[in-house]
Amino acid sequence: LAVAADAQAQGNYPQRPITMVVPFAAGGPTDVIARIVGEHMSHTLGQQIVVENVAGAGGTTGITRASQAQPDGYTIMMGHMGTHGAAPALYPNLKYDPAKDFAPVGLAAGTPILIVARKDFPANDLKGFVEYMKTNGDKVNMAHAGVGSVSHMTGIFFNSVIKAKPTMVSYSGTGPALNDLMGNTVDFMTDQIVNVAPQIQGGNIKAFAIATPVRSPVLPNVPTTKEAGLDGYEVSAWNAVFAPKGTSPEIVKKLNDALVKALADENTKKRLLDLGGVIPSDAERSPEALQKLVETEVARWTPVLKAAGTKAQ
Ligand code: MLT
Repeated sequence: LAVAADAQAQGNYPQRPITMVVPFAAGGPTDVIARIVGEHMSHTLGQQIVVENVAGAGGTTGITRASQAQPDGYTIMMGHMGTHGAAPALYPNLKYDPAKDFAPVGLAAGTPILIVARKDFPANDLKGFVEYMKTNGDKVNMAHAGVGSVSHMTGIFFNSVIKAKPTMVSYSGTGPALNDLMGNTVDFMTDQIVNVAPQIQGGNIKAFAIATPVRSPVLPNVPTTKEAGLDGYEVSAWNAVFAPKGTSPEIVKKLNDALVKALADENTKKRLLDLGGVIPSDAERSPEALQKLVETEVARWTPVLKAAGTKAQ
């Protein structure tokens, strides 16, 4: 009887609003992607997706909580390269295993990383910045969204490449970090394009380089790290929808179908593309592809981050 009731509940899913946990502050990159994609998913599913911001510990607080929710499809989450790629290397007591404790739903967006600084930082290009860091690095503050976040992992990786040791300043997300960058209270950060592109376009912050092999169409004047003379620093992040482990395949399929529809929708695509987001290819949109990505990313980043060391924190 219980099995039959369960099957019926899954068949009718969803019958009430779905909570999507965003493990960072509102207004930042993860939140923005969750709201854009979630809005269209809500139309398909016929129920509202309500974003809940649960910030802390580089995203691991929110993801831990969401991973322990009932696996009934009513709590899902937006994870990313930090929470599901870097966290195991940086948190010895992490309460979840990115590859084992989730039912992956699908990739939502790729987000190239940019090296950005406050508007009046005393360097005008990446070469000048790297030079400046050599002599004044200990006086420079680098913002990030907590140990294990994308801005933190890409930040300590960047610092290890240019051999700099700025003072690390932690925020609940790069949304608030960006506000402080614009307010001149911190000096620089490495952040995802969807957060910083509008402020670079508006001239409110400086962009030294984008860490991708080619420039972004939304920031045609920002050189790639390679063009700017820096080898060995190419990195792009990703954001993806996960459900807690044990969520039924029927529910995961409904969520994945809704995500795939969102990514095929012209308006949703335009909103992501206008911010410099990268739309996942058809092959990248399946739960299986996301499972593989998580496994590959944990394996790829663990040695890099261990080598970059925890000194930078
Ligand atoms: C955010 O939404 O604040 C970011 O994704 C934080 C980060 O991981 O850097």
